[in-house]
Amino acid sequence: MAERRVVKWGNPLLTRGAEPVTQFGTEQLQLLVTDLWDTMSARGGTGLAAPQIGESYRIVVFEIKPSPRYPELDPVPPTVLINPEVQPVSENMAKGWEGCLSLPGMRGLVPRYACIEISAHDIHGQPIKQQVHGYHARVVQHECDHLDGILYPQRIQDMNMFGFEEELSLAGTLNQVSPC
Ligand code: NI
Repeated sequence: MAERRVVKWGNPLLTRGAEPVTQFGTEQLQLLVTDLWDTMSARGGTGLAAPQIGESYRIVVFEIKPSPRYPELDPVPPTVLINPEVQPVSENMAKGWEGCLSLPGMRGLVPRYACIEISAHDIHGQPIKQQVHGYHARVVQHECDHLDGILYPQRIQDMNMFGFEEELSLAGTLNQVSPC
């Protein structure tokens, strides 16, 4: 187990583009992915991108666990996406509240494409192609933004809908799930 430090908003590592992975199935890649899982689990996050632990590579991990607090969310098993590309399937957007381990304690209401197609590779270099929607699509867009140096506050349209979780009223719009 290797929990790593999560770099926070303001660190230049979070605002630069990450490098593509060129070698798959290596021990180095496996160790990096293990560190991402260990760090995400220890912090109770839903997703984590490699730049957040100071590794400027195009790797994201996420898992949507069944939650009694948000029973409307479909669970997604632990997923690793390497060199992911995201394409919107339609122009439909949905707004939902997001947080980020690099901005602890904060939340913002962020518009995202409701339905996307993901092209990526797994840890062995096998291609992944998948259409996802709703909260799943939101998580993937949030994590993939990290690889391009974009943090969710940059996507917020109404800055009154951004602040400390303890001060915000999150009711109603936590996770709109739009069909494709
Ligand atoms: Ni994040």
